[in-house]
Amino acid sequence: MKQISLQSNFSLSQIVYGVWRWDNKKQSESDVQQIIEACLEFGIDSFDHADIYNDYRNEAFFGKVLKQNPSLRSQLKIITKCGIQLLSNNKPTTYVKHYNYSSEHIQMSVDNSLRNLNTDYVDVLLFHRPSPLMNVDEAAKMLETVVNMGKVKYVGVSNFTPTQFSLLQSRLNIPLITNQIELSLLHHQPLIDGSIDFLYEKNLKPMIWSPLGGGRLFDGSHSMLSKEFEKLNDKYNTTTDVLALAWLLRHPAGLIPVIGTNKTERIKAALSAVDINLELQDWFVLYEAALGQEVP
Ligand SMILES: NC(=O)c1ccc[n+]([C@@H]2O[C@H](COP(=O)([O-])OP(=O)(O)OC[C@H]3O[C@@H](n4cnc5c(N)ncnc54)[C@H](OP(=O)(O)O)[C@@H]3O)[C@@H](O)[C@H]2O)c1
Repeated sequence: MKQISLQSNFSLSQIVYGVWRWDNKKQSESDVQQIIEACLEFGIDSFDHADIYNDYRNEAFFGKVLKQNPSLRSQLKIITKCGIQLLSNNKPTTYVKHYNYSSEHIQMSVDNSLRNLNTDYVDVLLFHRPSPLMNVDEAAKMLETVVNMGKVKYVGVSNFTPTQFSLLQSRLNIPLITNQIELSLLHHQPLIDGSIDFLYEKNLKPMIWSPLGGGRLFDGSHSMLSKEFEKLNDKYNTTTDVLALAWLLRHPAGLIPVIGTNKTERIKAALSAVDINLELQDWFVLYEAALGQEVP
């Protein structure tokens, strides 16, 4: 699998694997180790985390595998996020879901992530969601601090609007290297609301979450899309999940889908999306089916 360059010395695999859906009540350590090893075998070397995934437990779940297999760390890249504070038994002082970008919280969150992941650095730290109360000077300073301390290699954001991105960047002496946003055939507004254009203009590679609509593409409620998928799956000799990824990869801005399946055979299938050359008009066939109408 190709690597996509985000900085002169840093790249992610063209498809990233996201661990949001891991659940340590349903999966064992050996299950997730299998997923990690399968990804690496397939050339997917980049793993998307957040401190909060699975009620604050998935970084440690991943970290146990790293601890038992120390040689893995240098083979993979870890993206994690901070800022969201969930209501959770693990956080007894939190009484409302909120966002916290105080320097103390960022620092504490990074230290917790490193401890849980059993690593001394993460490759990328993202601010998970914008907060109306983010003090950008304070937050930017702490991003520089964790980078200077070697705890974080690169920084970025997630779910930020272009103006929120620019505001934070204006106070930072290091680059924000990506914005991780939702985009799929079931959530295509970012293609026309300026979110993707902004990153494309700046030559930044967007990371794309829920590229298959979080599985909703397969729930039978999108009949127009399903009909077109059926025809195109035949034409390209593939399946809906793969074609939906190929639809994203066709965008010239160099989108990096973050896939979330727990099934290794589906991860393997996803690889073939990079080899599909979706014809221009076929891209629009799917887009129009998603819009429910002809483009204007
Ligand atoms: N930054 C953010 O705010 C944010 C928000 C949400 C997610 N994320 C990141 O994005 C990653 C991916 O999100 P996602 O899991 O929603 O991505 P996704 O790949 O769009 O959806 C994955 C879901 O689709 C199902 N699926 C995949 N292929 C299928 C098929 N052929 N038939 C039926 N079901 C299929 C999977 O089920 P199986 O497991 O059964 O295959 C899984 O439940 C997350 O892990 C996380 O890292 C970030």
